[in-house]
Amino acid sequence: MPRVSRVAEQETPPAYEGAKEMFGHRVTRGFAALVLFGLATVASAAQAAEEVNVYSYRQPFLIQPMFDAFTRETGIKVNVVFANKGLVERLKAEGRNSPADLIFTVDIGRLTDAVAGGVTQAVENETLDQVIPASMRDPNGHWFGVTQRARVIYASKDRVPLEEARALSYEDLADPKWRGRICTRAGDHAYNVALFASMIDKHGEAKAKAWLAGLRDNLARKPQGNDRAQVKAIMEGQCDLALGNHYYYALMLQNEEQSAWAASANIIFPNQNDDGTHMNISGIAMTSAAPNRENAVKLMEFLVGDLAQKMYAEQNNEYPLRAGVEPSGLLQSFGDFERSDQSLADVAAQRPMAIRLVNEVHYNAGPSS
Ligand SMILES: [Fe+2]
Repeated sequence: MPRVSRVAEQETPPAYEGAKEMFGHRVTRGFAALVLFGLATVASAAQAAEEVNVYSYRQPFLIQPMFDAFTRETGIKVNVVFANKGLVERLKAEGRNSPADLIFTVDIGRLTDAVAGGVTQAVENETLDQVIPASMRDPNGHWFGVTQRARVIYASKDRVPLEEARALSYEDLADPKWRGRICTRAGDHAYNVALFASMIDKHGEAKAKAWLAGLRDNLARKPQGNDRAQVKAIMEGQCDLALGNHYYYALMLQNEEQSAWAASANIIFPNQNDDGTHMNISGIAMTSAAPNRENAVKLMEFLVGDLAQKMYAEQNNEYPLRAGVEPSGLLQSFGDFERSDQSLADVAAQRPMAIRLVNEVHYNAGPSS
């Protein structure tokens, strides 16, 4: 698969862009046909013993190599339905008759939406509880993190001295010294909502709101574009700092056109002098229907094993959650950093308020609002 198309694909925030459901998107037609055939078989002939069915908001190419390894090891076939939206609604409509066993997605917002939609069930499992830090799974067992992504600051190499950049915290982004110098995507995008929710959880509503208004005042322009567009804006001199997820640095570096964007900015892991960098997850949840529950649990356990952690994290340019599994060489080149161990369940609980504050401070209207 050409690199450029791969990069373009992963950019699509699975939760929020694109409308068309696809089977085996960008995978060969043969594979798509197999997926359809596999699900039809399951739907019509009750559940075959050695299968597990996944509804995924993650692109097939990101997860398929790991599923192939699982099948080689266990003989259990993994059938995948991919869609970039609507899977929770589909699970609701299918109810008890759903063939799905597991949901794969990114962002705590997506996972908690599935739980709130009543389409998940709790899983009590010693292996999962031992491997996945308590802060990165649901205290009630309805969702589990598999890999981690950091929300970082991109800082202009030319205009922000490295020492100064490395001392930055999210809190600093509201400092008037950055007036007119920061770029971000829309405030109500899930990636920003989670970060803003983490600030509410840390500092309370009043301080978080003042901070958000300060950040809005420091914006160089009205929020627009995706995470990588902010780094491009740094290269073009429109801003000196930007917020973005860490894996886009890897994707830009590997992309012919975008490597210049990455080259214009340092990747900075904020809050190294206090509570560490805000982390989100890619994660999984078991559906309430789960006709192949046992196989689904086996797949969940496989996902937190050494092999899958290595494969899944590398494929996605994400950080493994299992202790002792090293991130890819490219990610290691970004440097070691302290990750926040703030409870993602606590962060998720503040998402509604975060969205409200984005509206109250007119974040998306930009700096002059
Ligand atoms: Fe993303």
